[in-house]
Amino acid sequence: MSTQFNEKITSKMAMDLESKYGAHNYHPLPVVLSKGEGVYVWDSEGKRYYDFLSAYSAVNQGHCHPKIVKALTEQAGKLALTSRAFYNDVLGVYEKYVTEYFGFDKILPMNTGAEAVETSIKLCRKWAYQKKGIGENKAKIIVCEGNFHGRTTTIISFSSDHDATKEYGPYTPGFISIPYNDTEALAEALKDPDVAGFLVEPIQGEAGVFVPDEGYLTKAKQLCEEAGVLFIADEVQTGIARTGKRLACDHENVKPDVLVLGKAISGGLYPVSAVLANDDIMLVIQPGQHGSTFGGNPVAGRVAIAALDVVRDENLCERSQKLGEILRRELKAIKTDMISVVRGKGLLNAIVIKPKGGKTAWDVCVKMAENGLLAKPTHGDKIRFAPPLVITEEQLMECVEIIKKSVLSFE
Ligand SMILES: Cc1ncc(COP(=O)(O)O)c(C=O)c1O
Repeated sequence: MSTQFNEKITSKMAMDLESKYGAHNYHPLPVVLSKGEGVYVWDSEGKRYYDFLSAYSAVNQGHCHPKIVKALTEQAGKLALTSRAFYNDVLGVYEKYVTEYFGFDKILPMNTGAEAVETSIKLCRKWAYQKKGIGENKAKIIVCEGNFHGRTTTIISFSSDHDATKEYGPYTPGFISIPYNDTEALAEALKDPDVAGFLVEPIQGEAGVFVPDEGYLTKAKQLCEEAGVLFIADEVQTGIARTGKRLACDHENVKPDVLVLGKAISGGLYPVSAVLANDDIMLVIQPGQHGSTFGGNPVAGRVAIAALDVVRDENLCERSQKLGEILRRELKAIKTDMISVVRGKGLLNAIVIKPKGGKTAWDVCVKMAENGLLAKPTHGDKIRFAPPLVITEEQLMECVEIIKKSVLSFE
């Protein structure tokens, strides 16, 4: 039996198919999307919504950005995949572009965010043995409570989220977990001479957009430098203009030793991720010691160049910075005790919902969807607001009205 995509798939059909044939590892809002353009997505019945999640900040450049689509389709029709068994005529050009863009000597290309984080862990450990002289299998990496770095077995081994870890053991050893936004705890943990790296999100996205105190990253980087430990910034969610700067670390002019990128480096059109570092670190990995069939493929290279061009050409950092301030100001002005907290940086924001009359963050999201805006609760009571960065001020104000109307409907 072949499924015909020219046959109309209604929302109900799509949801039934996913429920019957797909693993139940997600609990989506009951909205079936079939088209996207810029800040908008449309469901199967043609209803239009503002996208306030941007595929967890992968679609910073807006849905189906024409320049990125062009790069993707052109390259897909020419040469899509060679593996790294051979050279291709895009990868080197992309590597030059991306290392100059972010100011590092080298990139190691991967596909998903989790793979890039895994790569950074392997890189850090190898560096520890070759350069720092840590005894075999002794290297430790400090991580933060409340972190989210992806879903692989090693990464969930240092997650503090019960749902992410339960019944997936045995877990990978070699990680020390300390409270986030706590430089004293970091200083204490760094006393262990077997520590090789500190892996941190400059803002904890999945945890509910926890913005650390100003100066946290600067102090953390300084402590790592003093201890001869690699500062590894996971900017998979916070990077590529999302928080109002090219990188969230740029807010404090902190340069990580190892930078981890994913999501919006492709504008959401293709899985592309990257680890960047300078030669003294990156060159500890030699041929045959790490890799990926799809990592660094020509489509990924062309797409990422186009996606990063768009960020620069359309001034997305400045837009994100300015519109983020407006969004937080307007959200704080909504007169309701259901919104107990508004926080964020640039266009990475969250509100915390205090349930009212049995209505929770989930109900608020369902109501907002009815009113034409899509967002998703995280960790129960928080709702992330992260629209594509190409949103205009006028559109943003329309969104504020939708949010306001939806929340106030529970008063
Ligand atoms: C900070 C951070 N790191 C890593 C990841 C994992 O990325 P992926 O889902 O592409 O594996 C995410 C995903 O949300 C993330 O927010």
